[in-house]
Amino acid sequence: MRRLWRPVLDGLIPYDAGLSLEALARELGRSELVRLSANENPLGPSPLAVAAVKREAARIHLYPDGGSTALREALGRSLGAAPSQIVVGNGADELIALIATAAFEPGDEVIVPVPSFEPYEISARLAGARIVPSPLAGYDTDLDDVLRRVTDRTKAVMLCSPHNPATTIIPRRALLGFLDALGPDSPLVVLDQAYIDFCDDPDHADGIRLLERYPRLVVLRTFSKIAGLAGLRVGYAVASAETIDRFNRVRAPYNVNRLGQVAALAALDDHAHVDKTVRLVLEERAYLSAELTKRGYAFPPSRANFLLVAVSDAADLRARLMREGILVRDGASVGFPGHLRFSVGLRETNEKLLSLL
Ligand SMILES: Cc1ncc(COP(=O)(O)O)c(C=O)c1O
Repeated sequence: MRRLWRPVLDGLIPYDAGLSLEALARELGRSELVRLSANENPLGPSPLAVAAVKREAARIHLYPDGGSTALREALGRSLGAAPSQIVVGNGADELIALIATAAFEPGDEVIVPVPSFEPYEISARLAGARIVPSPLAGYDTDLDDVLRRVTDRTKAVMLCSPHNPATTIIPRRALLGFLDALGPDSPLVVLDQAYIDFCDDPDHADGIRLLERYPRLVVLRTFSKIAGLAGLRVGYAVASAETIDRFNRVRAPYNVNRLGQVAALAALDDHAHVDKTVRLVLEERAYLSAELTKRGYAFPPSRANFLLVAVSDAADLRARLMREGILVRDGASVGFPGHLRFSVGLRETNEKLLSLL
């Protein structure tokens, strides 16, 4: 018999994003559901991005710019990086896959703090690499443990700060110490900063400022959270021009669609929406944290737009919240059994959530 499929697929469980919001609302017989399970923007998309999408709609018969040139140039200006140091992807998700396609081979080791954002592991395994798990120390990334696991075969280390799902950061000094210890022949260090806009801790490092000193660092960012463009799928990686050149060799020719490109470009200029989003998330995160503490819940201080809270009856609570129209994530599905993970919502939603808890 001809063997059609790669054996590695047998061990992979497809990423389960659950039912669509629309299908779930139908199933529950509710006209309105608030999703706090995907860390989306509670204010909705940048209005400037929506206007840009409307303007561009009549041109969707034309292929997009395969190089996302205007967007990379604008990102370069805003981030203080050269456009040649940036690749735009169909969400940061695509970039995680691109890193694996470009760099990982069977026999390579990829160190992944566990739990972490699931696609790191899935992409690496698909590429045939061996996952070397490094357990979190409680809710924190344990860089001493990660360092002990680095070998000659280590191709990459996947770091996330602020961390999904743990909500914690890697402090600047620990990160710099780790990168210094890896030395000039370091593996790739992927630093996923999808939630950096919600981090108000001065002890957090902006990965892009470290690229000059650590040329094997790859920083991931996204328009999904801060700009509210999750449905358009636009993320980007910033790294050395040599690294970006390797990613460009493996990406699809038109990987970012026309609407995504113009929306992201417009969102970059929408400082009012960014400020409003950050203000809302920080205020409501503080409110939720204070109220949860008053009620006796334990959780790490969040530096992201979501919280990870220890509960005694996660599955029941999640089901009860769902019946009341609020979707949250059962921690068991993201490696934290006995927890709920939920995004910071609007005040009204947060009050309802607290009353149901
Ligand atoms: C840590 C982390 N990285 C990357 C992503 C993916 O972002 P995108 O929507 O740009 O694919 C997410 C999405 O939730 C995330 O939590």
